[in-house]
Amino acid sequence: MKEKLIEIIKEAGTILKDGYFSNKEVNFKAKKDLVTKYDVAVENFLKDKFTNEFKDFNVIAEESDNSNIEFNDSIIVDPIDGTTNFVNQVPHTCISVGVYKGKKPYIGIVYNPILDELYEAQIGQGAFLNGKKLEVSKENNFEKSLVATGFPYSNSTNQDDLNDVIEKIRTILPQCQDIRRLGSAAIDLCFIARGTYEAYYEMNLKAWDVSAGIIILQEAGGKFTSLDGSNYKLFEDKYIVASNGLVHDELIKLLN
Ligand code: IPD
Ligand code: CA
Ligand code: CA
Repeated sequence: MKEKLIEIIKEAGTILKDGYFSNKEVNFKAKKDLVTKYDVAVENFLKDKFTNEFKDFNVIAEESDNSNIEFNDSIIVDPIDGTTNFVNQVPHTCISVGVYKGKKPYIGIVYNPILDELYEAQIGQGAFLNGKKLEVSKENNFEKSLVATGFPYSNSTNQDDLNDVIEKIRTILPQCQDIRRLGSAAIDLCFIARGTYEAYYEMNLKAWDVSAGIIILQEAGGKFTSLDGSNYKLFEDKYIVASNGLVHDELIKLLN
């Protein structure tokens, strides 16, 4: 299944790449939440192919009405993660596809067609970037850790969320090496998997933002939990906290 998925996702990557280099009209789902015709085009392409090819799975995808779709044997799709980057030609944008069997992680694929970087993992078989095996960093000192985060779209409308973002940065920033905000949750998780970041946290993400990245991270030896350190629940938890495993406890302590 993984090879077929990769073939389809690479094909969809050409739609994303064409859009990235063209002038595009931007629509607003909310004040800060953008969508373009390319998000929809990539999603429709993937949904068509996946429904034909993988008949035992349903597809849950960001730009679709998912109200009658039950999460079980599911392919969870973010057609363009990092849409603001995509619109502004910041080259950190990707297609994210996570496959779950009986709600359990199975395959994760994150493809950035701009940099031609394909991250892939299947449970029990390791994680790879363009065929090269991935491993999380061995840094165990939080002071030397590069930490990533993201800002929820609610920051302009929800004062509690904004305060929470600022409070957490106030605590974390003086204690770590530095903080990055790259603009794609899926790639952020892959950047821990490849050893670039030590850790990452973010609030208000949706299942399609992380469904693939957490599988890739897990297979590279990393860890992801909810804010209190318990098992992360896709579709349920407000916060995700991810790391190389070695600085996880320290990050959880500081975030709380
Ligand atoms: C967004 C990106 C971003 C994160 C946002 C997500 P989108 O996804 O992953 O990094 O901070 O919260 O919603 O809207 O570009 O698919
Ligand atoms: Ca997303
Ligand atoms: Ca998206």
